[in-house]
Amino acid sequence: MTTHDAAHTAPPTQARLLAHEIERRRTFAIISHPDAGKTTITEKLLLYGGAIQEAGSVTAREGTAHTKSDWMSIEQQRGISISSSALTFEYAGRHINLLDTPGHQDFSEDTYRTLTAADSALMVLDAARGVQAQTEKLFAVCRNRGIPILTFVNKMDRPAQDIFDLLEQVEGILKITAVPLTWPIGDGPDFKGVYDLVAKQVLLFERVARGKSRAPVSVTSVDDPHLSELVGRDLHAKLQEDVALIEGAMPEFDQAAFLAGELTPVFFGSAMNNFGVEHFLQTFVDLAPAPGPLRTSEGLRAPESGFSGFIFKLQANMSRNHRDRTAFMRVSSGHFERGMDVTHTRTGRKLRLSQAHTLFAQDREKVEDAYPGDIVGLVNPGVFRIGDVISVDGKVSLPDFPRFTPEVFATMTLRDVTKRKAFHKGLTQLAEEGVVQVFFPTDGARDPYLGAVGPLQFEVFQARLSEEYGVDIEMHVTGYSLVRWLAGDAAQVARFARSVEDDQGRPVMLFRSNFDLQYTQDQNPEIEFLPLPKDM
Ligand code: G4P
Repeated sequence: MTTHDAAHTAPPTQARLLAHEIERRRTFAIISHPDAGKTTITEKLLLYGGAIQEAGSVTAREGTAHTKSDWMSIEQQRGISISSSALTFEYAGRHINLLDTPGHQDFSEDTYRTLTAADSALMVLDAARGVQAQTEKLFAVCRNRGIPILTFVNKMDRPAQDIFDLLEQVEGILKITAVPLTWPIGDGPDFKGVYDLVAKQVLLFERVARGKSRAPVSVTSVDDPHLSELVGRDLHAKLQEDVALIEGAMPEFDQAAFLAGELTPVFFGSAMNNFGVEHFLQTFVDLAPAPGPLRTSEGLRAPESGFSGFIFKLQANMSRNHRDRTAFMRVSSGHFERGMDVTHTRTGRKLRLSQAHTLFAQDREKVEDAYPGDIVGLVNPGVFRIGDVISVDGKVSLPDFPRFTPEVFATMTLRDVTKRKAFHKGLTQLAEEGVVQVFFPTDGARDPYLGAVGPLQFEVFQARLSEEYGVDIEMHVTGYSLVRWLAGDAAQVARFARSVEDDQGRPVMLFRSNFDLQYTQDQNPEIEFLPLPKDM
């Protein structure tokens, strides 16, 4: 839902209202390695944003409550979040859209796509573990797309790495300048709070049982003699020493470098205990960018242009009561209004967007209007594909959309052959969502191969096929670990191999090992073996 603050002041023109709504939007995603605390931070951000009353209502912990973004039983069983949704709240006059990205490493394809709809990202690190594998992968996507990144070092209430080492690790592995905006006072049981290096203030926190309510904050200065009494003489001395070192040796925060993705501001805290989360949010709304122009095949399209939006995610059967398909659209320019007429660029079809709705878990609210940066769920009667654009002028299209190369492959056996029709429907819809990629043997006699980035994706596919389409299958993981799209002279490619193709009919080849790939490549120098189709 959108509120029009501006309505209370001068009667704004449509253009001014649009500019105002764009300026106050902040659309971001959280990237982290599983377990770093993404869910907990999300919950705390919603708490401070007033979207939930008490922490604990988002996460399905100790069987007390349901995750608002959990739709499927497999998520609840495993306690992980598989599907993405957008959570929206207002804070300090800003309209914040938090794209909920699945945290498990196997769901990276979905996460990668969700990042295309974000204007900035929050990277959450575990203070003891630092930069982990999954963080690195997701970071690379943000970097490729030029998304500015903020960093929150979480779990400071546990023993942490040396903070200078940790910052060096961020810089060394991720090749980005890390500039702390706060500095932790102690760690583990001695964690007392953070020093705000910009405002030059100390924020002291009190532990509140599991962070169920807002943590009290008191503010003093780093040279306040009472600080020794509050945090202990040793920690006070260490803080003064650290601050002197930081002020002497660290680069200054530079907003332009941050927006260019070359610098990340770093914050410290403990999401579980509410340490540092509100301060982060206050700073975030000022630093993070409002929606910018969309890079289209036709050039940059300013957010103030006529309405356009692109589909970044498809999801079938989101709710048991509504067996339908939803296409998630990010508004990229102009004012979206329910019932408006738009053109679907890929097919040239005219559509009336009367069925729009946002989704916040199972409770659906109809969207009347939305602005750049907002996420709108559209009922999808099979019209939309990922990367599709709709707009008022019908000429807008996207040059690329990220896809990822599968690394595990499986075949399937249908337990009940009379269910073949339902099986095909499920396979088509779930592949369209990107749950798995499908590769077809060209002889037509064998069933397709499924490709995934990680094996848990297969379990999700199997569970959803059973729950949503009533089709039970057995899955057999194959020895293949690589897929390559074949390119080069069409006749040579055709002569070479056409035993498997992707869902668009492009020839591919599956390999068991890098050695096999290398050998085949050496034997056939005239053919290109590409990790993604040429037009991706
Ligand atoms: P994720 O979404 O990134 O996977 O992480 P999530 O928030 O689920 O957090 C992973 C675990 O880390 C949870 O523990 C959570 O309570 C804990 N955690 C999150 N933030 C902090 C923090 O600031 N300090 C400490 N000490 N722990 C934190 P769990 O054992 O999986 O769940 P629970 O039984 O504690 O609820």
